[in-house]
Amino acid sequence: MPTYKKPPKFMKIAHRGASSYAPENTFAAYDKALEMGIDEIELDVHFTKDDHLVVFHDDTVDRTTDGKGPVLEHSLAELRSLDAGSWFGPAYAGERVRSLAELFEQYKGRLYFHIEIKGRSVGLSRRTIDMVRGHGLTDSVTITSFSRDRLAEASAYDSDLPKGWLIPPGQDPWEDTYIAQSATLGLTQICFRGELATPELVESIHRAGYQARPWGISDEEVMRRAVDAGADGMTINFPDKLSEYLKAKGIE
Ligand code: G3P
Ligand code: CA
Repeated sequence: MPTYKKPPKFMKIAHRGASSYAPENTFAAYDKALEMGIDEIELDVHFTKDDHLVVFHDDTVDRTTDGKGPVLEHSLAELRSLDAGSWFGPAYAGERVRSLAELFEQYKGRLYFHIEIKGRSVGLSRRTIDMVRGHGLTDSVTITSFSRDRLAEASAYDSDLPKGWLIPPGQDPWEDTYIAQSATLGLTQICFRGELATPELVESIHRAGYQARPWGISDEEVMRRAVDAGADGMTINFPDKLSEYLKAKGIE
């Protein structure tokens, strides 16, 4: 059974960057997080058609770029040519889709990376871990996924990197079996939907040896609920509000 290790500080994780204020998963959103004094970010990873790793959330480029179609049917060069900022606002026109390598080069030493293995392709976890090792970032990364298969792939390949299972939304309400299902995955965190946060749930996750790190913080009420329940951190689109609340509570 794992032993719960409280993180050195509350994990304020800018979700896809400070994505309430700038287009998600772009340098603009990560720079915004840094401006807010945030040093942990979340990002999503997919394969491209030509086998590169790209930082992108959806399966298709339609919602957040001026392109169309599945990410997996675009080469890295094609993805780089898209405008990933205008959909959010004219001030962000020309923001680019980035490869994972570019993101690491830009922010290494300044940010901690919570990487979500988003694509479903076999091998995506291994390739991501190769990239983490290649950039000397094994101390600055947590691997997460909704997919138990991709987490099992990550654990088999690297038993040391911290890992978190994002419990998928369809699996509400909370069931204690999620803790039992986590046992084979070599995890450090269990990541549940923020609305489920209660002191009892956090306590049971801690007792089982995991950090309790909610996701899906839809508004400030859910944010406060998760903090008050004793969570160890959270991904959040508006990390500035989280900083304010933690300060007000004397947590930081
Ligand atoms: O904290 C994880 C969170 O990113 C999961 O949701 O939809 O942003 O990938 P989503
Ligand atoms: Ca994500």
